[in-house]
Amino acid sequence: MSNHIKTELKIETINDLGALYDRAFNVVKNALDKGSKNFGLATGGTMLPLYDRIRNSDLDFTQCKSVNLDEYVGLPKAHPESYIAFMKQQLFHDKPFKKSNLPNGEAVDPHAEAARYEMLLQQMTLDFQLLGIGENGHIGFNEPGTPFDSETHVVELEESTRIANARFFNSLNEVPTEAITMGISSIMRAKQILLIAVGEKKRPALEALLKGEVTEEIPVTILKKHPNVIVLTDLVI
Ligand code: PGA
Repeated sequence: MSNHIKTELKIETINDLGALYDRAFNVVKNALDKGSKNFGLATGGTMLPLYDRIRNSDLDFTQCKSVNLDEYVGLPKAHPESYIAFMKQQLFHDKPFKKSNLPNGEAVDPHAEAARYEMLLQQMTLDFQLLGIGENGHIGFNEPGTPFDSETHVVELEESTRIANARFFNSLNEVPTEAITMGISSIMRAKQILLIAVGEKKRPALEALLKGEVTEEIPVTILKKHPNVIVLTDLVI
């Protein structure tokens, strides 16, 4: 595939993390002010300072719906590291949406649950999608090698992903091995995407996005083909 793709990525390099997250907050606020109704949300350490700002703001999402990217399979909803628990604690408790959706990681049949979630996504247009980036270039839990046309599916997490997330658990053994993730095609259907990539560990993945070719081996590179992406980073690439 060609290296010379005309990208619509708007890259903003902001060294100061406080200023970077202030900017991220303003991107969300602008989307809301301009009438965005359906928000795709993300979990992970990257989002904490943003959700902190939103919690402490006067933004009102009670007329909006949210859809989260992913959820661990088999982790009880009450477990503090389930993504439903994360979202309640970090956002929904203080900033409720009219309706919030996450995949049900406790479903008896995760594949049927993935199909249900995909139906839901097909019936709505995401005005805005918030994204972090994995060290291996994953978006959501779409690990390297995931087809770009993927829909919501059950994924076996890469060892590197489990190791990266082990910091949130008591041990690596506790990190689930599977997740349900929104597919890359749903992410790409969002009208606007805000990607936040902070810290040296994200440099290889971000470099691949900004300088590499579009390849399923590094899922984030698909964003080069999206017409409206803002990338906020503290990394000079
Ligand atoms: P992190 O995760 O924000 O905890 O680094 C991001 C991701 O894996 O997508």
